[in-house]
Amino acid sequence: MLLENQKTYRRLQINHTRNKEQDHTQLLDKAAADFRYEDCQEEYWNPEEFSLLYGTPLWEQSTPSQKIILNQLYWVAYYSQIISAEIATIYFNQTSAAGLYAQEDFRIICDSLDLESAQERAHINAFKTVANQVEAKLFGKRIFSYPMRGPFSETMVFADTNFFKRKWKELQLKTFGLLSADNTFLACQYFTVRGVRTLNGKLIQHKLSNFYQKHPNPEKAPIPAKISYYHFMDESFHFNSSTIISHDVIHCLKPPTEFEKLVANLGLQGCQKDHYHFSVAINGIFWYDPALYSAIYQILCSPIFDMNDTEAKEMIRRCFTEESEGLHRSYQTHTEARDSYKIYLEKLEYISKTNKEMTIMSSNTIPKYLATQKKALPTSLPSLSYLGSLGNLAVRKS
Ligand SMILES: [Fe+2]
Ligand SMILES: [Fe+2]
Repeated sequence: MLLENQKTYRRLQINHTRNKEQDHTQLLDKAAADFRYEDCQEEYWNPEEFSLLYGTPLWEQSTPSQKIILNQLYWVAYYSQIISAEIATIYFNQTSAAGLYAQEDFRIICDSLDLESAQERAHINAFKTVANQVEAKLFGKRIFSYPMRGPFSETMVFADTNFFKRKWKELQLKTFGLLSADNTFLACQYFTVRGVRTLNGKLIQHKLSNFYQKHPNPEKAPIPAKISYYHFMDESFHFNSSTIISHDVIHCLKPPTEFEKLVANLGLQGCQKDHYHFSVAINGIFWYDPALYSAIYQILCSPIFDMNDTEAKEMIRRCFTEESEGLHRSYQTHTEARDSYKIYLEKLEYISKTNKEMTIMSSNTIPKYLATQKKALPTSLPSLSYLGSLGNLAVRKS
């Protein structure tokens, strides 16, 4: 019974009350409704180092106006990934709430999750509004964004995947949904996975939201920067609830069975696998770069950079297969994320050694990254030309 643990109950209550009071939904809806790309097209939306391909040969040779677009495209790409993660979050908030509601006094958690899911829908709407408008204006087609999708798609928008891997992932997600809806321990420990994923988000979103806070005139700040800030504010409550549920509410439950331990650890292992890669193109999102070549190629061939097929391919080769400041920065973020995950998992007893030490995620390195690119690039080049020959048709590889 949750009420027997007054301290935890109080913390849940305070977090829920404060989130309700400070809810940024209306501000986000207004920001989305007011967004007009023309109004903020000439400005940076993020700190400079959060630009697409920052610290790579492309960045070094870009003109000031191209750099502004790379900065804005970082925003579009970054939040396109967040949309996908939040669609999944809405679903698992619901299945977990079902699993938790089976216990006495758990209404407070379910009410918090309902509010959080509604907030995610406002977040998604704001991100989508900006991403769609920017890509339509700059390219007349989608590059990083995608039409609305369900919660069982590959969470990583640009992943190392194929038809079978996608189907397998879908089956795992569906199974976890069913299990957690009828198992309080698994429902509770979904929040360890959610906490870890949010930690990764916090790391970057804190810096993105600083841009608005440090803006000389925050009222006049570009709308996407405001959205970053409002979103970060809501997410801090989500992170608190993840932590209270996964770290404290767990003590109100029976100890896990071997099966429950296994499934919860598999969830974390999936998280490690999802976060194995790091991307030179986008610091802080653990995309698989070979899956991004075609997106970057299309940007390079667009009127913004106006490169021909040969020039675009050579630029891709230099950016992705050579060591650069950008690559080191992305690797640095990967390391920081991994270390913060370890700390987050430290006090949970049932966690396996590979998850506690994040061995899968830790096994990626800069030399491995470069070897992967050097192997993948030559086989990707012919399909890039094919993409070029299609011109401005809306094409996306996955
Ligand atoms: Fe969100
Ligand atoms: Fe959230």
